[in-house]
Amino acid sequence: MSSNSDMRPVGVFDSGVGGLSVLRAIRQQLPNESVLYFGDQGHVPYGPRPLEEVREFSEAITRFLLDLGAKLIVVACNTASAAALHSLRQTFPDISFVGMEPAVKPAAENTRTGVVGVLATPATFQGALYASVVERFAGNVALLQNTCPGLVQQIEQGALDGSETRGILDSALRPMLDQGIDTIVLGCTHYPFVIPLIQEIVGPDVRVIDPAPAVARQVARLLESAGRRAAGPRSGTLRFFTSGEATRFKVQLPRLFDETGEVREVLWENHEIRIK
Ligand code: DGL
Repeated sequence: MSSNSDMRPVGVFDSGVGGLSVLRAIRQQLPNESVLYFGDQGHVPYGPRPLEEVREFSEAITRFLLDLGAKLIVVACNTASAAALHSLRQTFPDISFVGMEPAVKPAAENTRTGVVGVLATPATFQGALYASVVERFAGNVALLQNTCPGLVQQIEQGALDGSETRGILDSALRPMLDQGIDTIVLGCTHYPFVIPLIQEIVGPDVRVIDPAPAVARQVARLLESAGRRAAGPRSGTLRFFTSGEATRFKVQLPRLFDETGEVREVLWENHEIRIK
């Protein structure tokens, strides 16, 4: 283990509150790390947008987080990873990025029925990253896909178990159950917040895969191997930024996450982001 220590924050971003499901796992595994969290609520949802547009947003957010001193960037959004991970690594070759891809590999390895459901946004399903995991890992399984239209917006509004949210999940999951799924891959970082509802619909025998702990482990591995872990014993601080309304984010935060921190609103001007 390296004796180096790097107290600079980790940058984490998503289109909105979804990345908090990843932040939760990062906090559990890396409590000494300080984190800058960016929710692009001025542009949520990303899922129906062209990949090119999501790429532009992701690049501007990355620059903003790096300007604030981020030592590593977690793209805590499957859609932004699908649209931008490759180009971010090319544009910022000295920076380590950790992105999200639907967890098709562990699902394919563990399914007994050979039928797996994947819930993700349209942009994620269109991206090359998804095509590549399907090609590499899903040769012997049937993947049933659903984009759950409207679900991200429901979760942004805090409707984690209302009738509308239940309706969206019912119509996605019932046909999958009829076709014999025994595993569901959550390919959108907003969806772990509705795991209780998903599990209620599909029953205890269907396994629901939240990739956040694996992503946090990857963050830990990269920091460790670069000698950039923050030293303890103090726990790291959290700062939150939203391109939506700070007052709204402050109401959302405690419903989804059991820690708090400073919340600031940002402005986009041309392609640049600055703190209001
Ligand atoms: N949380 C996101 C994802 O993982 C984005 C959802 C959206 O903005 O459409 O894909």
